[in-house]
Amino acid sequence: MAKKVTKIGVLTSGGDAPGMNAAIRAVVRTGLYHGLEMFGIMRGYQGMIDDDIVRMETKSVANIIQRGGTVLKTARCKEFFEYEGRQQAYDNLKDRGIDGLVIIGGDGSFRGAVQFSSEFDIPCIGLAGTIDKDIYGTDFTIGFDTAVNTAVEAIDKVRDTMDAHDRIFIIEVMGRDAGYIALHSGIATGAENILIPERKTDINDIVTSLQEKERRKKLVNLIVVAEGDEFGGADVVYKVLKEKLPLAEIRVCILGHIQRGGSPSCLDRLIASRMGYHAVECLLEGRHNVFVGIMNNKMHYIPLENAVKNKAKISEEWLRIVKILAS
Ligand code: F6P
Repeated sequence: MAKKVTKIGVLTSGGDAPGMNAAIRAVVRTGLYHGLEMFGIMRGYQGMIDDDIVRMETKSVANIIQRGGTVLKTARCKEFFEYEGRQQAYDNLKDRGIDGLVIIGGDGSFRGAVQFSSEFDIPCIGLAGTIDKDIYGTDFTIGFDTAVNTAVEAIDKVRDTMDAHDRIFIIEVMGRDAGYIALHSGIATGAENILIPERKTDINDIVTSLQEKERRKKLVNLIVVAEGDEFGGADVVYKVLKEKLPLAEIRVCILGHIQRGGSPSCLDRLIASRMGYHAVECLLEGRHNVFVGIMNNKMHYIPLENAVKNKAKISEEWLRIVKILAS
């Protein structure tokens, strides 16, 4: 029988994502509702190592549900990869009596949590907070919806000027090694080509179709490229296309970190609130070291290590839709 959790620490780790604050709020308020002591750990695992930990009350999370970024700050912590770092983190948590952790982050953060929970007796719950949506075991990650909407808004604007000038635009979106932001924003903006790491691109096909359009004097063409695609992003795609189509007017636009900021969408606030609430319920029910996702609109729990070991897969249906609609 697992020991009852009484003090919970919550942290955000890795790249920030809109909706992380909504998740922190849900964790803190659910814990307080159950009479637990709640703690915010600053700058992810770094705060565990540095003992940068603060008590969280109802007021600490007031007026944050609508804010992007994370009030707990975030970091990628190298020291936590070392055993000594994790031991120091454990000692600090133990001194404060923290006996449960909620980690809001991406797969790198979960890898740290899996390692930590295998070495020390503090259960960890993982919530997917990443704009990349590259996490196995959930239909949604906190931040993806907002990021993709930001990308769509920006791409729509670029399309106006692209159309006015009859230009080709290559727009790069984030996603690290995953193509979800590119795929979703590309479909939603009617991109002619979407380049993602999950699928091989035949650049000659693109060149042929652009040459054909050039003959028809129709050179408006929107190409959405995931930063992690096989060419290594928009600048390289630009060079390859420019070499083959020297007369074409091609421009590059890299959307960058604007995709990580801004007020979270309604969907992100809702999933963050549900996930945060269930994370605390899991700790109280003795459901330890799990990843809390949402599948088919229902809460979905898998061992944290499965979320790390498996890779989220882009569906064939979506890829087929891209091919047909963009032709
Ligand atoms: O994982 C989120 C993400 O925004 C990726 O899409 C991107 O590759 C990376 O983080 C950028 O990280 P940084 O903010 O450290 O440049």
